Amino acid sequence: MNDLAETLQQEHLTIRDSLDVIGALVDALDRGNVPPPEDLNAVLDFMDGFTDRSHRAKEEAVFSELVRTSDASVRPLIHRLEVEHAMTRKIVSAMRALVPRVEAGDHRARQEFEMYLRSYRFRTRDHIRDETRQLMPLVESTSRSSGHESMVRELDRIANEDFGDRGHGRLRETIRRLASKYSLRVRDAA
Ligand SMILES: [Fe+2]
Ligand SMILES: [Fe+2]
Repeated sequence: MNDLAETLQQEHLTIRDSLDVIGALVDALDRGNVPPPEDLNAVLDFMDGFTDRSHRAKEEAVFSELVRTSDASVRPLIHRLEVEHAMTRKIVSAMRALVPRVEAGDHRARQEFEMYLRSYRFRTRDHIRDETRQLMPLVESTSRSSGHESMVRELDRIANEDFGDRGHGRLRETIRRLASKYSLRVRDAA
């Protein structure tokens, strides 16, 4: 695996851990227990910060480079993955807006929030599966392309400038803490 694919796949492990935490929150809501608002907000912060602003921003930098350097056959896949990113962004902002009503005990808001959580979880699980099967082989093939070095620099820039390592590490720790709180085994043991 080249360095770019390795970075993205390592982040997928952390994101899959977050999906397990989401599953535990859904189970709690299903049983009629509203998880503490700090847990809901912590998961939303992870979705927004780690999964979207860091991981997906890196992927979107890779998408641009693949579109620029590969033949047109990659475009349908890249387009679909971009649409899926946009869709889950919308789900996260819809959930954010619902948190105050969920906290206030609004039953309908709780049901809606749970529906969004389920949808986010399944969509993200399938998205990662498709990226592993279809995107990673393309990322691997960039090792031989002239654009590889510029992609590595762009991913480093996102990691260091747009989203400092501390922010990244802090959000990873949040998911580990929640996984342990909800008695889940973590995949990202690095
Ligand atoms: Fe993605
Ligand atoms: Fe991804």
